[in-house]
Parts: sequence; C-alpha cells; structure tokens
Amino acid sequence: MKDPKTYYIKTYGCQMNELDTEVMRGQLERRGMTKVEEEAQADLLIFNTCSIRDLAERKVMGKLGLLGRRKNTDQIIGVTGCMANAKKATLFRKIPYINFVLGTNDYHKLNDVLDDVLATGQKGLGIQNKFSEELDYAGAKRDDKVKAYISIIRGCDKYCTYCVVPYTRGPEVSRSPQDIIHECKILADKGYKEITLLGQNVNSYGKDKPEWNCLFHDLLYQLDNIDGIERIRFMTSHPVDITRNLMEAIRDLPSMCEFIHFPIQAGSSRILKKMHRIYTLEQYLEKVDLLKKIVPNAALGTDIIVGFPTETHEEFMETYNIMKQIEYSVAFLYTYSERKGTPATRFKDTIPDDVKQERLHMLMDLQEGIYKKQRQALVGSTAEVLIEKRSSKDPRFLKGRTRCWKNTLIEGSDSLIGTLQQVRVNDFTNQTLLCELLHQEASLIS
Ligand code: SAH
Ligand code: SF4
Ligand code: F3S
Repeated sequence: MKDPKTYYIKTYGCQMNELDTEVMRGQLERRGMTKVEEEAQADLLIFNTCSIRDLAERKVMGKLGLLGRRKNTDQIIGVTGCMANAKKATLFRKIPYINFVLGTNDYHKLNDVLDDVLATGQKGLGIQNKFSEELDYAGAKRDDKVKAYISIIRGCDKYCTYCVVPYTRGPEVSRSPQDIIHECKILADKGYKEITLLGQNVNSYGKDKPEWNCLFHDLLYQLDNIDGIERIRFMTSHPVDITRNLMEAIRDLPSMCEFIHFPIQAGSSRILKKMHRIYTLEQYLEKVDLLKKIVPNAALGTDIIVGFPTETHEEFMETYNIMKQIEYSVAFLYTYSERKGTPATRFKDTIPDDVKQERLHMLMDLQEGIYKKQRQALVGSTAEVLIEKRSSKDPRFLKGRTRCWKNTLIEGSDSLIGTLQQVRVNDFTNQTLLCELLHQEASLIS
C-alpha cells in the first residue's frame, strides 16, 4: 500500500467526536499528512461515527455502502468513533473494504495502526473498553482560533436504560487537573478566548480519582484564574450531579457563562424511573429552583426523548407542560430509538412511529414559540458577544454568541474577531439575534 499523504475525516455525532477528530488530525499532521477538502481526493478517509440513534448509524452505513461501489482501491478507509465500539470487527464483515476500525478509547494508537495496515495490508482493530489516558490532547489540530473544546472526563457511569454511551465510551475516566490547566494555558497564550469543557457528565469530574481532591467546581476555580480565558462553558451535565457548589461557581466566577445544560429527558417520574435517570420530576424542579435562586439570570438547556417505551399520552403531556413551564433557551428534542444491547430493549419499542413523530412535532412547535418570545424580549437590550468569525452565509456580518449561547450577527470589521463586544439587540430571525456594536469601531481605535 502506498504511504498516504492526504486525509479527510468525516465527523458525525457530538462535540466529543469533534474534539476526537481534532486530536486525530494532530496525529496525522505530525506524520506529515495534510487535510484535503474533498473525500474523493484523500489517500486516507476516516469516518468518525456516532451510534446514539438508529438514524445516526444508518447515515454512516449508507455512506460507506455507496463508497464501496466507487471505491478508489488505493484509498485507505478507517472507521472510528462510537459505532466502531458498538459494531467492532463485524464492520469488516459488513463492509469488507474497510482497512481499520478504531474505537473511542484507542485513538492514541492511530499512527501505529496505520503503519501496520500499510506494512502488512492486514486489517487493523483497536477496541479497548476503558480509556487509557495516553491521548495527546495538547497536539490537537483546531481550525477555530477563538474557542476550543477541552476534554476533562471521558466515558459514562450513569447507564440510562436507553443509552449506548456507557458501552461505546466505557467507564468514566477523569483527566488530571494539571494536564487540563496546562492545555488551557497554551490555548490562552495562542489567543483563545473561550473553552468548552467536555464530558458525557462533566459533573462527575474527579470522582474516579479521589486522591486528586479536585471535583468539577474545584477545577472551575482553577481554570477561571487563567489569564486570557474570558469564557468557560461545559457540556454536558447530569441533573443529579449538579451541585450547589457548581451553581455558586457559575455565580461567582467571572468567566463562567450563565448557561447550563440541564437535560430532563422526560417530564413523568414513572418514565424517568424506567429511564434510570435517578431523579424524580420533583427533585429536578427543586434543583432548577435552587439554580434560579443562586444564578437568577441563568439560561437552561435540555434534551428530551419522546415515545420512550410505554409512555402514555398523559405522561407525554407532563413533558409538554414542563417545557412550557421552564421555557428552556435551548432544547434538543428526539424520538426514542431502540439501541441493541441497552437495558430498555426489554421494554420493547412500544410506541408507533407516527405517535412519536406527532409528540415530537408538538414539542417542536411549543419550543419554537418559546424561542420567539425569548428573542423578542431581548430586542432593545444589551449583551456581551464573543466575535467568532465572519458569516459564510452573509459576509456582511460577523458571527458571535452571547454568554447565554444565543447566536448573533453584527456588522463590523475582521479586526473584531476574537474580541468581546457589547452589542445592542435590534431585531431577530428565527435562529439569530441581529445586533449592532454599542461602541463603534472608530471610537475603539481613537
Ligand atoms: N451525556 C449526555 C447525553 C449524551 S447523548 C446527557 O446525559 O445529557 C445526547 C442525547 O441523546 C441524550 O441526552 C438523549 O436525549 C438522546 N439520546 C440518547 N440515547 C437515545 C436513544 N436511544 N434514543 C433517542 N435519543 C437518545
Ligand atoms: Fe447516556 Fe445517560 Fe450517560 Fe448521558 S448520562 S451519556 S444519557 S447513559
Ligand atoms: Fe454519538 Fe458517541 Fe457522541 S454515540 S452522541 S458520538 S458519545
């Protein structure tokens, strides 16, 4: 096989996969490879996959199937990510021209596996159950120059009955505070302004390493001290582990953004129990109340699954009513998708597709109205925006986000990219706030 010079990585799924792609890019570039913009031109093509719902898997399998028909025989093809862990070597049977399969806990071996495939022409496989802490995060190759994802904990120990993640990412493994701080300092020196701390459940941080004496909120206090990092966000958290200490950190630390993802999943306590979410609706609402007391301007995000096995119309309406009551500022809405090997398969997938779709659309319509009302209420107000880049859709505008994660468009010059600006909200579209700079650029220069 010829030594590959170019690569293309197609990334599916969540932010963890996006970061893992950046880490793999770093490794490939260190062996002298360069990224190309077209899949067909790449000597090495990697599919970094997701297994969270059936549709996510079908998308990749469809894509791999299509590729087989027009495969350029010199191209090396690898499958990485959660589907690699879920399907393991069976992928070679399903799609015989795949050259390697590398799971979420094996990326440190990428170059070795590639070398083996090149030397022997044999298939490469790496599927460890547990993350081994050898990954060179600091070598990640990022395109974004303003904000960066930082992994702080991998895996998940929560075992929600519907979810594949504990099986595809393995048990929780925290990354050492020294390592995290070191990486954040390097990024701050390079001019990065915002970091998003990543984990399936960032609030579990440090619990697997009691000897470090550093829980999630302790880590936040240390990161807030880093000069240059203006904003800290995190994704994502399990409501059970959202503590008063965390809420106080959000209140007290200047760089902590007042946005917190607080995924409820369902509004019925019976369904929550079957999901093994380990909180009741009442306990969830108590936490939301406490958060609102401690951080009154906090914006909340959520994930919701409709059509979980045995969910009645009345139970679905409990979800609907809670969404109406809480008015989340971000809501990711899904229909239940049965995943092989998860405990929820024993309940059977009882809700017909059309009922799931109907419930989903009811929530989407409700949330659309809430978004509109929230944006309308912001018109005339001022906000702090981190200017991220020029909009590719409409190059007259710069793109940025408020502290509470709202998308904004603002007219201004490229010199503002990477700066925090005060803006006034003048108008909105259904996705975005249209803003103007409060201090015009001329006055900034003079
Ligand atoms: N660790 C995160 C979620 C990761 S998965 C958390 O607990 O919040 C992202 C979202 O996908 C979940 O919150 C859930 O709403 C949804 N999801 C997970 N498994 C699913 C399934 N089998 N069917 C439908 N949605 C699912
Ligand atoms: Fe999945 Fe639950 Fe873990 Fe989130 S907390 S990744 S939903 S098992
Ligand atoms: Fe998908 Fe794995 Fe993320 S299943 S959502 S890529 S953790």
